[in-house]
Amino acid sequence: MMQKIGRRGLLRGLAATAAIAGFGRSMAQAQAVDAPLLRAASRTIEVNGRAAKVFGLLGPGNKPGMELLLGDRFRARLENGTGMETLIHWHGLAPPTEQDGVPMLSQPVLRPGASYGYDFVNTRSGTHWMHSHVGLQEQQLLAAPLIVRETEKPVFDEQDHVVMLHDFSFRDPAEILAELKSGGGAHAGHANMQGMDNMPGRLNDVVFDAYLCNDRTLDDPEIVTVEKGGQVRLRIINAAAASNMWIDLAGLEGDLIAVDGNAVHPVRSSRFPLAIAQRADIRLRIPREGGAFPVLFQPEGLAARTGLMLATVGAQIGKIGSGAATTASALDLSFERTLRAVGKLPDEPVTRTEVLLLTGGGADYVWGLNGKPSMHDTVFTVKQGERIEAMMRNTTGMAHPMHLHGHYFKVVGIGNTRIDGALRDTVLVPPLETVTIMFDAGNPGTWAFHCHHLYHMNSGMMGTVAYTRAA
Ligand code: C2O
Ligand code: CU
Repeated sequence: MMQKIGRRGLLRGLAATAAIAGFGRSMAQAQAVDAPLLRAASRTIEVNGRAAKVFGLLGPGNKPGMELLLGDRFRARLENGTGMETLIHWHGLAPPTEQDGVPMLSQPVLRPGASYGYDFVNTRSGTHWMHSHVGLQEQQLLAAPLIVRETEKPVFDEQDHVVMLHDFSFRDPAEILAELKSGGGAHAGHANMQGMDNMPGRLNDVVFDAYLCNDRTLDDPEIVTVEKGGQVRLRIINAAAASNMWIDLAGLEGDLIAVDGNAVHPVRSSRFPLAIAQRADIRLRIPREGGAFPVLFQPEGLAARTGLMLATVGAQIGKIGSGAATTASALDLSFERTLRAVGKLPDEPVTRTEVLLLTGGGADYVWGLNGKPSMHDTVFTVKQGERIEAMMRNTTGMAHPMHLHGHYFKVVGIGNTRIDGALRDTVLVPPLETVTIMFDAGNPGTWAFHCHHLYHMNSGMMGTVAYTRAA
């Protein structure tokens, strides 16, 4: 949801940015000395009865991540207590490029024990998140919620609950990637046994030990106390490295009211797709008679699941367990097709359409954009003020959740059909499908544009959209 910042606010913001640019980065850091502390650190959680060493991001009050109010500047002092080099990206916000948290493109990696200050005008509300953009640290749970509320208290009498999903492995993610590159991993093992190879239909290329919902498995789920007849808003973040998920409200129905932080005309269902890195805000009502109501998340193609329990006081809470009765189907675009954004982009002609081929995924596990593993290469350039359409054509056998940094976009086409779709920052492009997005070039810089499947991204499915000076 975009907020109209008053002209004064905007000018003040610009003036501050100009001042920072003028005095270099140290000035921005000096200003952030008293900013809320955000600490990246190691922590231990319990998974399947075993201790697991993971990372985390703790903000004010020692809570994971950060919350701010729309209209506030985003201010944080990121401190690196991980013992490794890291850098954190604010997924869903549109900061100036040098504060976007991508190594090489934004700023150098943050050394162990060091800190960086962040301070920028934020115009976006909604459910977002933050995560490491270095190596495979995201697989080690170096991620947290980033919630921008529109009002201090909910407008409705409702309970707000943030839900973060992860896929989890006890293995070193570097080992997982090495195995994928050597032709091993799930595409040689488990997945093939389910009849999946490199043809359309291969859904998961990594075998995980667990799926986590707010750091817990369904064998020992989080129990959220809710009120009989009460309204609940779930802010669900798919922070999994490599798993597209289904949200399953089991017996209940809910209204999907926002995707990637942007309001949509509500869609009622009990099942919603949520690709890697996407967010879904779902509003539901607890039945008057009360009880215990599971909220389940199931990775596509698997019978595994995770979830939590919404329970009224005194309700009997049955055990559910991490094994679902049935295998979840693959995510497709039938739901995406029905979404309609509440917010509108200004009425303007399209300057140019760029075609982007999503490529690779052979036995060597090299992925790419337009046929090359591009990483920091420019996939196309834009000029400030242009309106761009990017037609993403997936030539591979796997689905790719494509994410553009620094902007949000509107989904305007699926296959050959034009749609008046959702505003997003991440959209799933299933095997052999074409998805067209439209965005306005209004945030100069060099921006990452990549598949958010961590192993695809780290194997070449990443490039940049670079601004050139208007002629
Ligand atoms: Cu969620 Cu390149 O980021
Ligand atoms: Cu991908």
